Amino acid sequence: MRIGVLASGSGTNLSSILDEGLDVAVVVVDRVCRATDVARRAGVPVVELPRTFGRDFDRLAYTHQVVDALAAHDVALVVMAGFGTVLDKPIHDAYPGRILNTHPALLPAFPGWHSVEEALAAGVKLTGCTVHVATLDVDAGPILAQEAVPVLPGDTVESLHERIKSVERRLYPATIRQFIEGVIP
Ligand code: GRF
Repeated sequence: MRIGVLASGSGTNLSSILDEGLDVAVVVVDRVCRATDVARRAGVPVVELPRTFGRDFDRLAYTHQVVDALAAHDVALVVMAGFGTVLDKPIHDAYPGRILNTHPALLPAFPGWHSVEEALAAGVKLTGCTVHVATLDVDAGPILAQEAVPVLPGDTVESLHERIKSVERRLYPATIRQFIEGVIP
């Protein structure tokens, strides 16, 4: 199944997906980021769709650009790997139930952009990561896999996030494979 990965960050989850041997047909990035280099090094086409962050940002038009890029590469499954733009309805219409996401918390706890900071601030002793089907409601779609990660004394946002990401890099590719093979849900 041809996969389109959406990324905005360091691309370490993208790297783990590529290492798993999954069929990544294209990587779409919404800003200058290291994920672009990860894709290029693996010989995967990259579509750069830089976005704006002001009030002028047209989310609907931007979503259409992303859908067009995915369609141009015959993508059948969309995998968000640290993508920093919330996309609008057209992508869910084009890929119903076929958009996956990984979130660095145990959903439904700590949804949103600041989940690691908020888990740390709340003083929880366990957090983790969640792989789920993305829906129009952010961080709310059906859960496919979860794994707990301990919060350790002296943790910073960076150290905790890295501990979570080391689990994501194992859990996400394995879950994507199970999803493609119909083992889950
Ligand atoms: C991951 O923790 C993911 O859950 C979150 O962004 C991070 C992406 O990291 N949405 P990377 O760019 O794959 O290293």
